[in-house]
Amino acid sequence: MKILAISGSLRKGSFNTQLLKTVAEFVDQDTSIEVFDLADVPLYNGDLDGDTKPAPVQALLEAIASADGLLIATPEYNYSVPGVLKNAIDWASRPAFKSVICGKPTGVMSSSMSTIGGARAQVHLRDVLLATLTPVYLAPDFALASADSAFDEYGRLVDEGTRNFLQKYMTGYTQWVANQKG
Ligand code: FNR
Repeated sequence: MKILAISGSLRKGSFNTQLLKTVAEFVDQDTSIEVFDLADVPLYNGDLDGDTKPAPVQALLEAIASADGLLIATPEYNYSVPGVLKNAIDWASRPAFKSVICGKPTGVMSSSMSTIGGARAQVHLRDVLLATLTPVYLAPDFALASADSAFDEYGRLVDEGTRNFLQKYMTGYTQWVANQKG
């Protein structure tokens, strides 16, 4: 199974990107996780959204199309998702209701230094994905709080309870993606 992971943060030291790198530890050997970097995706412009699109956009659309499922980890910026992530979803959402993201099974996670782990951004993200007809894995929610102390120097999640919960999330999520494949 191929999972495309997208981080809503461009920061080198991003906790969300680190979270997506660490989920490979929690899936079966027959599941691959590729983390897509949004850094080169330009701002959405309808004039550029023709048959020939900017190369980074084309790469994003092809990566989504060829994946069995998406896994998004988002920071919370001012109670919502970063523009970088919303912009990528906007590109991926066209043409409306027939896009590469339409019907693509998607897991949503968040991470923040706050004690609620970006939960408000997750709520907004789920709403956006509703507009694009993207089915979202419903439960359990995974929000990584106090992210600045969650990883050790090797990028490994340190807390056993958090690791167990992420394992539960990834097992449920990958089974759900497999069921959607039929
Ligand atoms: C933030 N941050 C933040 N955190 C939060 O819990 N709620 C919020 O509303 C916001 N708002 C916000 C706005 C802006 C513009 C920035 C730059 C940051 C903090 C943010 O979640 C934190 O820096 C995360 O660590 C960012 O995620 P990455 O980059 O570590 O993945």
